[in-house]
Amino acid sequence: MAYPLLIVFLSLLSLLHHSLSCLSTHKQSLLQFKSLVTRKNDDNSAPFFAFDSWNTSNCCNWEGVTCNRELPTKPVTKLSLSGVVPLTYTAPSSAIASLFAIKTLTFLDISQNSLEGEIPWKGFENLMNLRYLDLSSNLLNGTIPLTIFKLRHLRHLNLGANSLTGVLASAVADLSSLEFLSIDENFLTGQIPSEIGNLIELKVLSLSQNQFSGELPQHILRLERLQILDLGNASTIMILLLSRNNLTGSIPASITNIYRLLVLDLSENQFSGDSFPQFGPDTYLAYVDLSENGFYGEVPMSFGRQIRSLALSGNKFTGPLPGKLNTMQFIENLDLHDNYITGEMPFWIGQISTISVLNLRNNKLEGPVPHTISNLSKLHVLDLSGNNLSGSIPIQMGHLEGMVDTITYFSISDLFTFSIDLSDITFYWKGALRGLGYQRVSTYANLDLSRNGFSGIIPIELGNLKGLKSLNMSYNMIQGRIPANFGHLGKLESLDLSHNRLNGSIPPSFESLNELTTLDLSYNRLMGRIPDKGKMSSMMDIASYTNNSGLCGIQIRVRCESDNPTKVSDGDLVAEGEEKSEDHWFKWIVVFGFFLGFSGAMTVSYFSGFLYPDPPRRYLRSHRQRR
Ligand SMILES: *[C@@H]1O[C@H](CO)[C@@H](O)[C@H](O)[C@H]1NC(C)=O
Ligand SMILES: *[C@@H]1O[C@H](CO)[C@@H](O)[C@H](O)[C@H]1NC(C)=O
Ligand SMILES: *[C@@H]1O[C@H](CO)[C@@H](O)[C@H](O)[C@H]1NC(C)=O
Ligand SMILES: *[C@@H]1O[C@H](CO)[C@@H](O)[C@H](O)[C@H]1NC(C)=O
Ligand SMILES: *[C@@H]1O[C@H](CO)[C@@H](O)[C@H](O)[C@H]1NC(C)=O
Ligand SMILES: *[C@@H]1O[C@H](CO)[C@@H](O)[C@H](O)[C@H]1NC(C)=O
Ligand SMILES: *[C@@H]1O[C@H](CO)[C@@H](O)[C@H](O)[C@H]1NC(C)=O
Ligand SMILES: *[C@@H]1O[C@H](CO)[C@@H](O)[C@H](O)[C@H]1NC(C)=O
Ligand SMILES: *[C@@H]1O[C@H](CO)[C@@H](O)[C@H](O)[C@H]1NC(C)=O
Repeated sequence: MAYPLLIVFLSLLSLLHHSLSCLSTHKQSLLQFKSLVTRKNDDNSAPFFAFDSWNTSNCCNWEGVTCNRELPTKPVTKLSLSGVVPLTYTAPSSAIASLFAIKTLTFLDISQNSLEGEIPWKGFENLMNLRYLDLSSNLLNGTIPLTIFKLRHLRHLNLGANSLTGVLASAVADLSSLEFLSIDENFLTGQIPSEIGNLIELKVLSLSQNQFSGELPQHILRLERLQILDLGNASTIMILLLSRNNLTGSIPASITNIYRLLVLDLSENQFSGDSFPQFGPDTYLAYVDLSENGFYGEVPMSFGRQIRSLALSGNKFTGPLPGKLNTMQFIENLDLHDNYITGEMPFWIGQISTISVLNLRNNKLEGPVPHTISNLSKLHVLDLSGNNLSGSIPIQMGHLEGMVDTITYFSISDLFTFSIDLSDITFYWKGALRGLGYQRVSTYANLDLSRNGFSGIIPIELGNLKGLKSLNMSYNMIQGRIPANFGHLGKLESLDLSHNRLNGSIPPSFESLNELTTLDLSYNRLMGRIPDKGKMSSMMDIASYTNNSGLCGIQIRVRCESDNPTKVSDGDLVAEGEEKSEDHWFKWIVVFGFFLGFSGAMTVSYFSGFLYPDPPRRYLRSHRQRR
């Protein structure tokens, strides 16, 4: 009895289904888009990922396609096609034009798709309902079609990570509803049009990694009109990313008019000058990166009270560490490396209690390290190398809690309701300058005192710093023995004590340094047997032990007096030497020819959840290929 009923019900359902079918013109457009996607080589076996579902009659059910089901015609309104054309496939940029017939589109995301060639010049004006347009991370070239700037309802425009050339036309300012504009990682030239200042709704402006030149327009952002000062409201904030261009001149004072400015990245340009905008005490500015420019004068401190991260490295700042530093109640990262900062490290350094990463590398600081440093309980990365600091290493350094237990979190990114890919923090590690992402730096502890004039002995207290992954005290005048408890630094992966005056033997406890992969004890006065059990059996580089006063062991092929002569055979040497250790903690990004310290471009990895909660994204922006 129930059986025929079910059949009736099912056929009704299928009838209903047909009436729900999408517009045939829309379906044709989508199929044309799909048909332009081809495999790069002859092998046709692999599937089309999202396009798999594009074979039924109702295109509203296709993956990535959203229709307005409230309207009788069920028009397609939204296309979330990010990453549907994988790297092994290709599509001409004209595929974009096949979508111009879908005039009802409000949302179009075709990012990450290996679309190749110029953006179609004609046709965008058909998509007047568009509010969201993302063509980023493709292989698009040529200039930006002016027709895009006619899409006056557009709130989100992302053309980043392509190969676009030409200037940014002032017509961009016609997009008066724009909240998000990113054209980073392209080859745009000329000046940044001052008309951008008319985009009063703008919350994110990223023009990083282009070839823009000239000065910043005085009225880069005329946002005086905005008065909403609620930090909890993401829509009130502003992010300005102009790093890695060729911009010159000073920072316009008018920038302080952007009350809600939260992130300012002008790094790696040719800005200069010794005057800085005076941000008032109630500014929300939290992240400032002015590194790798030509600024000079005293270290500026006029960035307000909220600052979390201040990077001024790679400039020509002179004078002492500014006294105002200890008024920064929230500062977590302070990077002043590669400048000409003079004077002593002040005792009040111990008052900057929120600091977790302090980089003063390559300056001209002198005198002793104040004992008050131990007050910095969150400090877990301290780089003082390349200064002229002297005296003995304070025993209080052994009480830096952040280096004992590295569960403290570097929380600058907690500020943002969206994920932002802050640039790497870089320092020497395992013999090379390497970068470390913000998230990872939170689990990292590094103490670098190298290339100074430190004397005296190594305080036994440093053996307490069990969280250390890297310890570098090379190029000083440190004497006495290596503390026996260094073997308890169980997380240590890199240890450099070279170029000092250390004597005695290498503590046998080194055999329990299970994470050790880089060791340098050369140029000291060490004697006796090199421990050869545990990880020490793979520390086979002769250069790590050279120029000492009588070391012996298999590592340097010198037999110890006390040894049984058969123990150190050539066979053993080869076998142990081949044992290659891996960095299993994480993968470093080696920064080739990169600036030191906080790098320039802070890439906005993804802002959904900030302005637009829904679009699914297959890859994080930061994973895209860099040129
Ligand atoms: C559509 O493609 C999917 C996956 O390739 C397949 O499972 C399904 O049977 C196809 N449907 C039609 C109606 O061809
Ligand atoms: C854009 O790239 C295509 C190849 O993908 C090339 O044929 C064309 O000349 C390029 N156009 C410009 C303006 O560079
Ligand atoms: C956030 O600010 C916008 C104006 O930019 C306002 O319309 C909205 O109501 C605010 N939301 C909250 C939760 O305060
Ligand atoms: C940057 O500007 C300088 C002059 O200030 C110029 O010599 C140089 O060629 C420019 N570089 C680029 C990539 O435009
Ligand atoms: C230590 O830090 C506290 C805040 O945590 C601060 O009040 C105090 O002045 C600091 N002491 C020194 C000696 O810097
Ligand atoms: C380093 O400091 C010492 C005094 O502690 C001084 O004699 C020397 O000239 C300084 N070196 C440099 C390069 O500034
Ligand atoms: C220790 O620091 C020196 C000088 O700053 C550097 O040359 C060396 O590579 C560092 N050692 C390691 C193992 O990173
Ligand atoms: C090691 O150096 C210290 C200080 O220079 C000295 O007092 C001690 O006698 C030396 N020990 C050995 C074994 O040479
Ligand atoms: C370091 O040792 C090598 C070989 O043992 C020797 O040739 C060199 O002169 C030594 N260098 C110094 C600065 O002692």
